[in-house]
Amino acid sequence: MRILAIETSCDETGIAIVDAETSAEGATVFRVLANVTLSQIAMHREYGGVFPMLAKREHARTLVPVLIRALDQAGLKAKTSRHVIEHPLRDEFKEMFEREPELFSQMMAHIPELGVPKIDAIAVTTGPGLEPALWVGLNFARALALLWKLPLIPINHMEGHLLAAALVPDEKRADAEVRTIRLADVAFPALALLVSGGHTEIVLAKAWGSYTVLGETRDDAVGEAFDKAARLLDLPYPGGPEIARLAQNGTPGAYSLPRPMLHSSDYDFSFSGLKTAVRYLIRDLSAKGPITDAMRADIAREFEDACVEVLVGKTMRAAREHGAGTLLLGGGVSANARLRDALAAKTESEGIPFYAPERDLSTDNGLMIAISAYLRRDETADLRTLRAQGTMPL
Ligand code: KG4
Ligand code: ZN
Repeated sequence: MRILAIETSCDETGIAIVDAETSAEGATVFRVLANVTLSQIAMHREYGGVFPMLAKREHARTLVPVLIRALDQAGLKAKTSRHVIEHPLRDEFKEMFEREPELFSQMMAHIPELGVPKIDAIAVTTGPGLEPALWVGLNFARALALLWKLPLIPINHMEGHLLAAALVPDEKRADAEVRTIRLADVAFPALALLVSGGHTEIVLAKAWGSYTVLGETRDDAVGEAFDKAARLLDLPYPGGPEIARLAQNGTPGAYSLPRPMLHSSDYDFSFSGLKTAVRYLIRDLSAKGPITDAMRADIAREFEDACVEVLVGKTMRAAREHGAGTLLLGGGVSANARLRDALAAKTESEGIPFYAPERDLSTDNGLMIAISAYLRRDETADLRTLRAQGTMPL
């Protein structure tokens, strides 16, 4: 089964094309024909954060070029095509993209040239995320499904992050030219820590597709806290990688920040107070004199340590209390080396297999959406009633 997946929930435009093959023994391998990710980070950096309307405008501008690149990579672009977008579809698209005239005209100009690619289904992230950004991806996916007469599979972004953690190279069927991956043989129940710019959740998975959220943040997501703390330290957006880099030169324990909710009996988090503590620390220090680069590095280190300690402490407790057979780490913050290393060390000492995504799959991408869509290949949507949902639960 060949799936084309579209991801536009935040500030990355992602389109992947994946061939899923299930063998007689029931093992599925995914051949990644294309995985194109276009980041808007440089654009949002000027404003110090992600602006939903700017994100939406950028997705609208880049969806057609990203689609063309993905089909080209996959070798699925028609050499010659007489395919045209006729009435009444043309009128329907015009109405659908009333507020994205540039996307509409790019579609009219370039989509017919692509022919009708050999694809079996389209998948799209319908939530959670920035609603205007989700809508543009959803409408684009809907238009392609209508035009190419394909089923559309709606996907939860957080399930994508969870699955991305468990993707491993398939050595047996490795192909020099095509990345070939599979889901690891995970022992369930698996416990997942999902950490991104919008979410911080501890999730118990009884099987792929069957989830219970055990706890989540009550205010800021941990990625958001990194971004806000970074701004206080005069670092650019996104703050996660910047803080991690600066923290490398910091001395652990030079300052003391709180570990919010580390010992609370639930599995919830709170990161907004930690960010405020950084603000006060910087204020108090600057009242005594200039803040040097060494001091900034020490603050970054302490902030990172505080986040990692809380995340690891609560996740490991949840793993023990729920008898987790596997631990998964997913979402943009999973790129954080100190968090990965700490979880790797703890799980090793407790004998729990641990999986985290490969670097290019830790931040938002279309591939993880395609994998999720394969698992949900029977859950196709009604093209007319499908909606984006900014706060969609897992
Ligand atoms: O999953 P993602 O790409 O987008 C959302 O769905 O939110 O996550 C982006 C978040 C940002 O807040 C960014 O600062 C954070 O992931 N991040 C990191 C690191 N790399 C990215 N946080 C801490 N350390 C990192 N190395
Ligand atoms: Zn994400």
